[in-house]
Amino acid sequence: MNHRILFRAPGGPEVLEWAEAPLTAPGPGEARVRHTAIGVNYIDIYQRSGAYPVPLPAALGFEAAGVVEALGGDVAGLEVGQRVAYVDGPTGAYSEARNHPVARLVPLPGSISDEEAAALIFKGLTAHMLVRRVWRPAKGEWALVHAAAGGVGLILTRWLATEGANVIGVVSTEAKADAVKAEGAHSVLIVPGGGSYGDLASQVRRITGGKGVRVAYDSVGKDSFEASLDSLAPFGLLASFGRSSGALPMVDVADLGRRGGLALQRPSLFPHVADPVDLQAAAKDLFEAHVKGVVRAHIHDRVPLREAARAHRLLESRSTQGALLLIP
Ligand SMILES: NC(=O)c1ccc[n+]([C@@H]2O[C@H](COP(=O)([O-])OP(=O)(O)OC[C@H]3O[C@@H](n4cnc5c(N)ncnc54)[C@H](OP(=O)(O)O)[C@@H]3O)[C@@H](O)[C@H]2O)c1
Repeated sequence: MNHRILFRAPGGPEVLEWAEAPLTAPGPGEARVRHTAIGVNYIDIYQRSGAYPVPLPAALGFEAAGVVEALGGDVAGLEVGQRVAYVDGPTGAYSEARNHPVARLVPLPGSISDEEAAALIFKGLTAHMLVRRVWRPAKGEWALVHAAAGGVGLILTRWLATEGANVIGVVSTEAKADAVKAEGAHSVLIVPGGGSYGDLASQVRRITGGKGVRVAYDSVGKDSFEASLDSLAPFGLLASFGRSSGALPMVDVADLGRRGGLALQRPSLFPHVADPVDLQAAAKDLFEAHVKGVVRAHIHDRVPLREAARAHRLLESRSTQGALLLIP
């Protein structure tokens, strides 16, 4: 019998259930994918906790790698036995196998393993969006990266640094700071869990010779939002792409003007890859960057799929560096 993880009410990791999920034959335009590695992402926690409400009961997970096991009708360009990965809905990646729209599957090249793909495709395509669509790094410009030792953070730091940006990473521990430096960050600032971001902007200004950063990539949200705005150079950009510490504040647009003609963007991976042509092109860029060593898959740990609640506890406890994988 096939199994998946689902939840019937929002709550803590304990709401996650291991449930039977009978498999049907793939419909037109679908393929059945047998998962080999599943990526855990912070959006899974937002959905499980109710921060992003979803219709219930709900399956979880946007990201997995695996092998095509069967094809529905009207499918061209994909074969049984082919290795693939995907990054978007419908949710249900936390499963042993499932049917998925063929248009959303990315064939995997031989240069990347299934585990690397599951660690990279969602987080790496998010970094691709941030360095290609949101702000293209220029040599010598300053960039602030919050949660720099996280799943997205390590990939983003390395990509920015490789292209010549001066990255200031923000993390909560010395061990995480070492990991971020190893990816090429210029400097790393430590804000311990439960600590204040009140002093962050002045530290950023000290490092940048008073100028501030050209761009701040902020996935922490509530706790760091003001410090990110205060860290920007005139006409700088705050790319606010997550909220691991809580919901974002309301913004007075005129205030952005008073603070130096600042720009604010809320980028999302889903529109970045909504067009299947964009999805395949972005994945090609990502796989090439992987071959060149511009991005690396950082696997913090592998957790049995059945123990998804343990993986959620790990991610929420801020104890991970890089990606967590669920293994069916
Ligand atoms: N917009 C998009 O399309 C998109 C796509 C992918 C990811 N994201 C966002 O990017 C962020 C990173 O995702 P990820 O899956 O790679 O997770 P992650 O960065 O591996 O984990 C979250 C990290 O956030 C930091 N953090 C700061 N304050 C926190 C708090 N109060 N509670 C929990 N964590 C806190 C922690 O790092 P420190 O302990 O070092 O502070 C923690 O390790 C998330 O906010 C996610 O929603 C957005």
